[in-house]
Amino acid sequence: MRSGRSISVQGGRLTMKLAIAYWTNTGNTQEMAEAIEQGAKEAGAETELCMIDELEDPETCDVIAMGCPAMGNEELDGIFRGYYSQLKPELKGKKVALFGSWGWGNGAYMDAWKKDCQDAGMVLIAEPMLCQKKPDEAGLNACRQFGRKLAEAK
Ligand SMILES: Cc1cc2nc3c(=O)[nH]c(=O)nc-3n(C[C@H](O)[C@H](O)[C@H](O)COP(=O)(O)O)c2cc1C
Repeated sequence: MRSGRSISVQGGRLTMKLAIAYWTNTGNTQEMAEAIEQGAKEAGAETELCMIDELEDPETCDVIAMGCPAMGNEELDGIFRGYYSQLKPELKGKKVALFGSWGWGNGAYMDAWKKDCQDAGMVLIAEPMLCQKKPDEAGLNACRQFGRKLAEAK
């Protein structure tokens, strides 16, 4: 018997479903995504880990965590942005969380992304998770914790 997290009966499931959809160029955001999935699974969530262009049926997910590195000049990666723009109308009213890796801008790109999600009617259920470049063990632990928190979202 698991306790302390939401039980979804959507689609006949008894567990909450978390999608973790990301983009990466050199693997850093992917490492974050994998650690987030690990934490969420430890907390009992059903997970779907995929690149953003492979996300299937977002409407069947209780929470969607999206990950993208900082690129351009404090912007989302251009390829991610294209898929995210297509997906955005479907995400209105959905519970989402954001994460990503940055190099030198202290994660400033995330502020604009967060606002964009809120303007599009998404419900941000946690403060964004950020790591500088390749996440170290402390960063990976923070990502696992983030995943556990998302798995407990009501
Ligand atoms: C072309 C290019 C542009 C970048 N622009 C930024 C930026 O504006 N701000 C920043 O903090 N990091 C920037 N970075 C650094 C990446 O965000 C960083 O290396 C990140 O860890 C890459 O994540 P990934 O391995 O998931 O692709 C840039 C990197 C490249 C190659």
